[in-house]
Amino acid sequence: MNRRTIRIAIIIGMTSLLISMSLVWTIGVVGSAASDKTYVGSEKCKDCHDQIFAKWRQTPHANVIQEVKKNPDAIKGDFKTPDTARTFKKNEVVMTSGLIWKQRYITKDWKILPAQWNYETQKWAPYNVDKWKEEDWRSFCGYCHTTGYDSKKLAWKELNVGCEACHGPGSKHVENKEEKTEIALGEPPDIVNPASLTSDQAAMVCGQCHTRGTSPDGVFPFPVDYRPGDVLSAKNFTPVPYTDTKAWWPNKTVKQHRQQYIEWRVTKHAKAGVNCSVCHDAHVTRNKFQTKTSQNNLCLGCHPQISTDAERGHAPVGGTLRQHSDCVGCHMSAVGKSAEVGDEHTHTFRFIAPIATINLGGGDVKNQPNSCSVCHAGAPVDALQADFAERMPFRSSRP
Ligand code: HEC
Ligand code: HEC
Ligand code: HEC
Ligand code: HEC
Ligand code: HEC
Ligand code: HEC
Ligand code: HEC
Ligand code: HEC
Repeated sequence: MNRRTIRIAIIIGMTSLLISMSLVWTIGVVGSAASDKTYVGSEKCKDCHDQIFAKWRQTPHANVIQEVKKNPDAIKGDFKTPDTARTFKKNEVVMTSGLIWKQRYITKDWKILPAQWNYETQKWAPYNVDKWKEEDWRSFCGYCHTTGYDSKKLAWKELNVGCEACHGPGSKHVENKEEKTEIALGEPPDIVNPASLTSDQAAMVCGQCHTRGTSPDGVFPFPVDYRPGDVLSAKNFTPVPYTDTKAWWPNKTVKQHRQQYIEWRVTKHAKAGVNCSVCHDAHVTRNKFQTKTSQNNLCLGCHPQISTDAERGHAPVGGTLRQHSDCVGCHMSAVGKSAEVGDEHTHTFRFIAPIATINLGGGDVKNQPNSCSVCHAGAPVDALQADFAERMPFRSSRP
């Protein structure tokens, strides 16, 4: 190598360093809380994305919070029949929260009334009876049920999970699309598309709300000032520890609701890039869980080698074809609770063997449920474990 080639090599090296630095810079800037962008509200997006808007409008996200003044029918609880759990009157309710499992009620001074209506049982259940007068909906709940939340002002741009909750503030995008015919080369994207983020960062967009824990200072139960595209980490959020027995079963699966992200992030699916949007469509409500296809097709699409044969297949327990081929029944057991235990599916994708109940729960499914007992509620746990051990002894080495 003579001097000239060395010089050229250095120049090439520096140029590629600069290019990679600018790439890092661009990626780093995508969607981060760029302060010049502001929230404009979902109605504005409708102007140009009317089809997505119409689909999104049907999702639970768009209907989480209802104002009674605008929609008196939003109140679903039974206020006619007297009930000892319900200690308040209908006319105290200014906003409602929830449409799938339970509904809670908010007053004109932002308190959450001390009973909730459970849809499935059609019954009232006491809620936070001791502390309800101290807790303010705006600081305890607001962030996750609104869009463009500001923790200093305790205010937001829009009630409900609007477009910008997942795409970040949209003012620049709207401005560009309305005024500019072309975007200058190298200009950072004007709006966040989760599909362009890394798999982990895209999951964090959902994980900002589908999580449980506190801000690092312990003040708020959500990641303060997080914006889509940001990294969710110990710097902005402390997940609820596994030692918290209100949130986790002893085997580290979900006991309450909204823990999907903190379960998912430690799975093989997370490592393999199988994130929330691989299985869920954020804009479309095919079913109440917004999955892209039916349960088994979802799994078999990527795990085609798993045989559903009743006798010689992957899960030959009991010899019944349909139920014991139900991937979600065993790998995403409904052990979590929103209104009732059984509402929420674990996102660890781990089968929970009956032996877990014996070893960690003293044999009682109330202390530690297992995948078999979720469906076979009355069956003795020992018998389920014996049956499982007998019929699926080589499980992990068989297709
Ligand atoms: C004036 C019209 C207009 C408005 C208003 C508008 N958009 Fe767009 N948007 C577009 C067009 C056109 C494209 C596709 C062109 C492109 O690829 O950049 C687009 C693309 C996008 C993309 C994909 C970007 C990418 O990099 O893949 C997202 C996400 C998006 N819009 C979200 C929104 C949201 C959220 C709002 C409301 C805050 C909104 N848009 C309002 C015109 C608009
Ligand atoms: C960290 C974000 C976050 C916080 C804080 C939060 N929620 Fe939620 N909430 C969610 C998510 C996400 C769901 C849906 C999750 C699920 O089903 O697993 C949900 C679901 C609900 C539901 C059930 C909805 C239904 O259709 O059945 C109600 C009611 C509710 N929240 C009320 C509240 C109240 C009241 C507070 C404050 C005391 C609160 N939430 C605090 C994120 C949050
Ligand atoms: C709960 C989160 C969430 C909400 C709310 C949401 N989006 Fe999206 N959006 C996504 C995700 C995730 C993607 C990327 C999907 C993928 O990975 O293929 C996306 C993609 C898009 C795209 C790119 C093109 C496409 O169809 O994939 C546009 C445009 C868009 N969203 C507009 C909107 C508008 C407008 C609204 C409100 C009416 C909205 N989104 C509400 C999460 C959301
Ligand atoms: C701003 C907070 C927020 C963000 C961001 C968010 N969600 Fe949600 N999500 C909620 C709340 C609150 C509910 C409860 C709605 C209700 O009242 O039923 C919910 C409900 C859902 C539901 C319906 C089933 C249920 O448990 O209620 C699915 C599925 C879901 N979210 C998936 C996603 C996915 C996937 C993403 C990311 C692409 C995402 N969410 C982003 C707050 C959020
Ligand atoms: C491998 C597929 C897959 C992945 C990845 C996945 N989910 Fe799910 N999710 C499901 C299935 C299947 C259900 C249950 C649907 C049913 O019973 O029909 C579900 C249910 C849910 C529900 C309803 C409440 C519950 O827990 O049962 C929410 C909310 C949800 N997922 C959010 C998320 C979020 C947020 C992520 C990313 C952190 C995620 N999911 C990742 C497949 C997946
Ligand atoms: C987009 C493709 C994709 C989808 C959809 C998918 N998986 Fe997976 N799954 C994978 C990959 C990739 C791995 C990791 C394989 C590895 O690391 O060995 C994996 C791993 C697993 C594992 C092993 C986990 C462990 O800890 O050993 C189980 C169990 C599993 N998946 C079940 C499911 C179920 C149940 C569904 C449906 C709800 C599903 N998968 C949907 C791609 C997928
Ligand atoms: C998704 C729900 C579901 C899960 C999970 C499940 N089962 Fe079943 N199982 C069923 C149903 C439904 C039947 C059929 C019952 C009938 O025909 O009376 C059945 C039948 C059986 C039978 C035959 C019963 C008889 O009387 O012949 C045995 C044994 C059995 N299951 C054991 C297990 C074991 C062990 C596990 C855990 C490894 C398990 N099951 C997980 C739903 C489930
Ligand atoms: C009766 C319960 C049961 C059913 C139903 C079931 N599995 Fe499994 N699966 C297991 C057990 C047990 C293992 C062994 C690993 C473990 O203990 O977690 C396993 C392991 C796996 C693995 C890891 C690779 C391997 O073979 O060890 C994948 C992938 C998987 N299952 C996918 C599926 C899919 C896809 C379906 C639906 C067609 C399904 N399973 C239905 C119980 C079940």
